[in-house]
Amino acid sequence: KVLADFVRDLPKVELHLHIEGTLEPELLLSLAERHRIAMPYANIEMARAAYEFDDLQSFLNVYYLGTSVLREERDFYELTQAYMQRCKQQHIIHTEIFFDPQTHLSHGVPLDVVMGGIQSALREAELEWGISSALILCFERDREAESTVGLLEDALRIGGIAGVGLDSAELGNPPRKFQEVFKLAKSLGLHRVAHAGEEGPPDYIWEALDTLEVERIDHGVRCMEDPLLVQRLLATKIPLTVCPFSNVELKVFPDLHSHNLGDLLAAGLSATINSDDPAYFGGYLNDNIVETMDCLSLGVEDLIVLQKNAIEASFCSASRKLEMN
Ligand code: ADE
Ligand code: ZN
Repeated sequence: KVLADFVRDLPKVELHLHIEGTLEPELLLSLAERHRIAMPYANIEMARAAYEFDDLQSFLNVYYLGTSVLREERDFYELTQAYMQRCKQQHIIHTEIFFDPQTHLSHGVPLDVVMGGIQSALREAELEWGISSALILCFERDREAESTVGLLEDALRIGGIAGVGLDSAELGNPPRKFQEVFKLAKSLGLHRVAHAGEEGPPDYIWEALDTLEVERIDHGVRCMEDPLLVQRLLATKIPLTVCPFSNVELKVFPDLHSHNLGDLLAAGLSATINSDDPAYFGGYLNDNIVETMDCLSLGVEDLIVLQKNAIEASFCSASRKLEMN
């Protein structure tokens, strides 16, 4: 209780959040009705009951099904506004947000509709509540890479992208397939991150570092299987955006007590705590922090380290970092 209050009131930074993963059943069903799209859930309870996953792919099936109700600019606006409202409640002062444009394009939703809706909610949150944010365009690694250069160019014409990421089904989809578009992103001064070592082996983390030149690894929890990789991450100070509830829900760890966040911190790695897809995994950032601290017997000093790591790992300006410290 005392800890929960402390965590709630502490100003925090979130670095691993898929905006489509914040689609709560209430909004999902109301958007389905708005657009007359049939969903296999008759009500909120049925939707929640379907949020039981065996692995990453079984989650992605449900997650991508949910995205099919997002059609118009106002849908993306309402989705993002609801998350930013959560940020305000949770005292998140800076958030870096992923979105999956290839999925929306496959539904016939143009990029400017997606980005326009997200960005107007982000602008409003900054103006009204002082919450800063960065938008990261994710490529879906289980789709073809050919169209991604054109997609990135389109996004740059619209503007407001801080960087690129890589997400979706990891196993069997190693990072190197996206080498060309990440090289272009680097040459344009964009930040680069990739999901790696969530379900996939440590080799995928090496590959993300070597072929995509990423600045952060999303998840990365399987790095502990490879001592040389841990040395590399330490030497280059590459942060890991760890998502405890996600890892348990997707069976990366059998339960929160078995999570290796404590080991990552003990090894001196720059780990951070994040919520990934909070509408699907049972909680937003503060819930992730409180329950993980509880299960792993982490103290307030660990929480301070985690949040200082997050500030440092963020893509904020040096002056904004100072302000948040
Ligand atoms: N897309 C949304 N959440 C994801 C995750 N945890 N891993 C890979 N792709 C995702
Ligand atoms: Zn993720």
